[in-house]
Amino acid sequence: MSRMVLHERNMPYVVKVGDQELHLCACGLSENKPYCDGSHMKTVDESGKIYLYDHDGNRVELGSFYK
Ligand code: FES
Repeated sequence: MSRMVLHERNMPYVVKVGDQELHLCACGLSENKPYCDGSHMKTVDESGKIYLYDHDGNRVELGSFYK
């Protein structure tokens, strides 16, 4: 079964644990989940549209979210 998951955030969540600062992936593209690996940089130019990313990080625009 396949499932499409919508991720609207294009930056990680920053969580402090003791002295450590963790960057948790919120864009859904990290290859090192739950941690951010910088892949969210591919999403910085997204705006008001729906995109599909394949496993190689290639992006396809599916259309406008708010029609
Ligand atoms: S937030 Fe997903 S890779 Fe950075």
